[in-house]
Amino acid sequence: MNKYIIPFNKPYLTGKELDHIKDAVARGKISGNGYYTQKCHEFFQERYGFKKCLLTTSCTDALEMAAILCDIQPGDEVIVPSYTFVSTANAFVLRGAKIVFADSRKDHPGIDESKIESLITSRTKVVVPVHYAGIACDMDIIMDIANRHNILVVEDAAQSIDSFYKGKPLGGIGHFGCFSFHETKNINDERFCKRAEIIWEKGTNRAEFFRGEVNKYGWVDIGSSFLPSEITAAFLFAQLEQLDTIQNQREGIWEEYNNRLKQIKEKGLFKLPVIPPYATNNAHMFYLVFNNLELRSEKIKSLLENGILSVFHYLSLHKSLFYRGKLVGRELPESDRYSDCLLRLPFFYELTNEHFEYIINKITYYKK
Ligand SMILES: Cc1ncc(COP(=O)(O)O)c(C=O)c1O
Repeated sequence: MNKYIIPFNKPYLTGKELDHIKDAVARGKISGNGYYTQKCHEFFQERYGFKKCLLTTSCTDALEMAAILCDIQPGDEVIVPSYTFVSTANAFVLRGAKIVFADSRKDHPGIDESKIESLITSRTKVVVPVHYAGIACDMDIIMDIANRHNILVVEDAAQSIDSFYKGKPLGGIGHFGCFSFHETKNINDERFCKRAEIIWEKGTNRAEFFRGEVNKYGWVDIGSSFLPSEITAAFLFAQLEQLDTIQNQREGIWEEYNNRLKQIKEKGLFKLPVIPPYATNNAHMFYLVFNNLELRSEKIKSLLENGILSVFHYLSLHKSLFYRGKLVGRELPESDRYSDCLLRLPFFYELTNEHFEYIINKITYYKK
């Protein structure tokens, strides 16, 4: 019997969640866009200086809203890294876009900025950098390409809350930024703000009506039910209030993993995450990149035998069952390498020192 079962993830509760939910119910407006939704919007707008935030039920919804706002038409091309979650691409596929997959960087799973320009055609409308593990893509390069070719940038900042590129908050640099975990969407270009609110409210101008700007509301555009209930917003706000505490703790865990694993890294079996000088680290996850699939599979198995759950991550989207037939003859070797070799270690707020010692011990153990 193992001494421990250590999960990969364990949600952290601040203790205020139920109080806020009770309060949201007592306020009598639980369908959404009430007190707690506003509090969440204000949090992001004030803390990060985002122009306009709209809370959505998920990052998937936020990406789908962004695709509508980019006015994607059938046949438009969208450049997306292959090493990402399906939602990054799906949001645009739903509007009829053709996805043009880009490879990852050699030193980091994020999109290889140097490959983007060669993928641009007269049909390219959007590029979607994904800040993998909360580590920024080189946004100056991406914004420069986008501006020169007149294309929009949607940052998939699903993992990037409280992370920065050259001092600018991720999700706040492109035309749109989409977050997960804390499930917010933010819009950085004022041209899109009004329409975004309508799409968010099922295609109606209800938000304007609630503010007293119009005396009735109706159907004015396409849209969907992207707006979460106040119960979700109340839960989220309890977590946002503790963001600094949560981040401090997570950063400590990340540093500890990094310092301890530097020693075994020298054996050359795996590489540690690279943080480019222009990026901060929000300690979203800790991953290792093994030299090959066999080494990674062996490690997942041996950790599991010791009660430790470690997991791989994305599988190259260009090789997915859904997309592979649509792609003609382009190899994306770095994306495939991360699909085969990247391993994520247990990472959560309540990881104790005792757990930690045990995990490090089992990671660094190799049979002779
Ligand atoms: C890069 C990326 N984008 C989007 C999403 C979707 O986020 P959500 O689950 O909030 O819809 C995920 C989820 O894992 C993700 O990793």
